[in-house]
Amino acid sequence: MRILLINGPNLNALGQRDPTLYGTMTLPEIEAAVVAGGEELDTEVVCFQSNSEGAIVDYIQEQTPNAQGIIINGGALSHYGLSLRDALSDTGLPVVEVHLSNIHARESWRQRSVTGSVAKGVITGLGWSGYMYALDYLVTEITQGSGQ
Ligand code: DQA
Repeated sequence: MRILLINGPNLNALGQRDPTLYGTMTLPEIEAAVVAGGEELDTEVVCFQSNSEGAIVDYIQEQTPNAQGIIINGGALSHYGLSLRDALSDTGLPVVEVHLSNIHARESWRQRSVTGSVAKGVITGLGWSGYMYALDYLVTEITQGSGQ
């Protein structure tokens, strides 16, 4: 099984961005943890980060035929990235959206996610562990089907 782990704008700066919101782990550290978690579940996790919405849309379109699920933290694109939303929807794959911070406890404009509406579910506010929970969910969903 192959799962895409996609991170959007500014998430390449994790570790330097406000650690009270986003924690202290860098993106390569988080990616390594999810890849290792995937290995334990016989799952290949392929990582991609870009600060550009178009590059993420291109990546999703290219990789979809070879993937079974998507974990995505779209960063600020989550709140307004309609082409990203459409690209995720067009895959037909199960998507789990992750936010490190709790978007519902922040500014009102962050509390809406346009990409969340095409996800199976959204994990928000649980820090980097959210990516691990997303992986667990997707592997179970894809191999057994949760019925949801
Ligand atoms: C974020 C929340 C977004 O509002 C913000 O723009 C980010 C990170 C999070 O992981 O908490 O870049 O997606």
